[in-house]
Amino acid sequence: MRVLLYSCRPYDRDSFEAVAADFPGIDLHFTEAPLTPASCALAEGFSAICTFVNDPVDASTLRALHCVGVRAIALRCAGFNQVDLPSAAELGISIMRVPAYSPYAVAEHAVGLILTLNRRIHRAFNRTREGDFSLHGLLGFDVHGKTVGVVGTGKIGRAFSQIMLGFGCKVLACDPQPDTQLAQQGVHYCELPALLQEADIVSLHCPLTNATEHLINQQRLATMKRGAMLINTSRGALVDTKALIAALKSGQLGHVGLDVYEEEASLFFADHSDHPLQDDVLARLLTFPNVIVTAHQAFFTQEAIHAIASTTLGNLHHWQQGQPCNQVHA
Ligand code: NAI
Repeated sequence: MRVLLYSCRPYDRDSFEAVAADFPGIDLHFTEAPLTPASCALAEGFSAICTFVNDPVDASTLRALHCVGVRAIALRCAGFNQVDLPSAAELGISIMRVPAYSPYAVAEHAVGLILTLNRRIHRAFNRTREGDFSLHGLLGFDVHGKTVGVVGTGKIGRAFSQIMLGFGCKVLACDPQPDTQLAQQGVHYCELPALLQEADIVSLHCPLTNATEHLINQQRLATMKRGAMLINTSRGALVDTKALIAALKSGQLGHVGLDVYEEEASLFFADHSDHPLQDDVLARLLTFPNVIVTAHQAFFTQEAIHAIASTTLGNLHHWQQGQPCNQVHA
């Protein structure tokens, strides 16, 4: 089976080539081109393609892929909010994903953002390089003893909660499906309003759905503790970014760490440093000293990208054999 990988960076190619020998029936081809209605023509002669998190798999793209003979799309990511599942089902195109690779990668990145923001490590790094060894403006707080709110305690939220329990935090969580083991380990489940009111640090780990879009909006930000920290390593559109900027300007939010951004698709995973930044909302966010933006890198560990490549090729192999293949249904 010939498979074309879209939006392929050198590290994607390396990770897939490293496991390709285990799947001799799959003939891999790579392109840096993102998936768009126009680039669907590249998939002529391929029965399957592989796409990444910001490749929009919408109705027109699916129709164009169907026309050139594509019958399966292997997402090399966990989230599938970028896929029009009803259209895929109508056209008979199978959609597969990687439900879990390394929850630790994302959870540890969220913790990294917390520690960096709190202790101003990003500012200290630049300061000492300039010969400035002063401490003003770098005052942090003990994370130990603080209340951390976890929104969504699936695989990543669970790993994150366990790390924060290890720090000696009080961990509050909300999830429509509470994890009884986590509760036994000391996580207290409550509703979102109570979590937002009590937490010093709020970290988002739920998926993006119609119900969770702009879950964190102006009204909810107003109910948070003044000066609280918000971390989002899940999906950009969980947060209303304009409301976030207003909360930062007023001091309602003390720190913000984002690995995802609602308009990231046209920016992230590419170097735009030779051109003026066209996104004024992101440009404003980047002016705050108490904001850190990373470009959707929370998943990016050696262990995770190896697991992504191996599960993706396993999914395609099983799809070809008519076996269960982590298929996502409408
Ligand atoms: P998961 O499916 O294991 O867990 C998601 C949890 O969220 C579930 O327990 C679910 O019941 C809960 N949930 C759903 N709606 C909720 C709501 N309204 N309020 C509170 N909880 C709710 O997913 P996993 O693997 O933990 O991933 C979570 C998210 O992390 C993914 O959906 C994806 O968007 C994001 N992600 C980000 C990555 C990055 O590199 N930044 C990499 C991988 C995932």
